[in-house]
Amino acid sequence: MTGAAAGTADPLALAATWLPAAGSEVTPTMTLATIGLDGYPSARTVLLSAFDGQRLHFHTDTRSRKAAELAAAPRASVTIHWPERARQLTVTGDVAPVTDQEARIAYDRRSRYLQVLAWVNDTDLAVAPEADRRVRWAAFEREHGDAPYTPPPTWGGFALTPLRMLFWSGAADGPSNRLAYERDAGGAWRGEVWPG
Ligand SMILES: Cc1cc2nc3c(=O)[nH]c(=O)nc-3n(C[C@H](O)[C@H](O)[C@H](O)COP(=O)(O)O)c2cc1C
Repeated sequence: MTGAAAGTADPLALAATWLPAAGSEVTPTMTLATIGLDGYPSARTVLLSAFDGQRLHFHTDTRSRKAAELAAAPRASVTIHWPERARQLTVTGDVAPVTDQEARIAYDRRSRYLQVLAWVNDTDLAVAPEADRRVRWAAFEREHGDAPYTPPPTWGGFALTPLRMLFWSGAADGPSNRLAYERDAGGAWRGEVWPG
């Protein structure tokens, strides 16, 4: 890094002012980039389930491509964009599976729609004709009624522990810049100001 030293000493504390508090119903979308099994980058949108003050949690199907990629290379980068606030946060680091309890809590917080999706959204359903897909969706809801859903066995979660954090701030009428942080082997953060 080559910029001037950043004023804020603790990027996790700064992130806590940008991200929804733990337990919040607000789940921003983020672009999650992993390392593809063929070595190429692999990116998609996921929800930020929670920021616990140290790690960013996201959840997915354990049969998914991203789960296989993270098993092979447990490193990722996420980018969250708030256009209305002219902000972007990019976090890069190491990924580990969350505990069953953490995964369960996240599932309980998901909307009913996303809870059903986690159960039914498999390859068979994906390739079925549209009408059949809707029939199977409706049948699942009918069979399960209003009872609370439990997570399917394929529901899993991951938490990203930051190694680098990049806070971009823009303005419609002025220059953008970034606060760039990196954690050293001893766990101490070093920050610099970079052009946007
Ligand atoms: C707005 C939005 C939010 C999404 N949230 C999630 C999510 O939280 N978890 C997830 O597994 N997939 C989510 N998806 C679907 C993923 O983008 C992706 O298509 C899916 O997870 C399969 O990705 P993979 O094949 O790279 O593993 C979301 C898609 C969109 C457009």
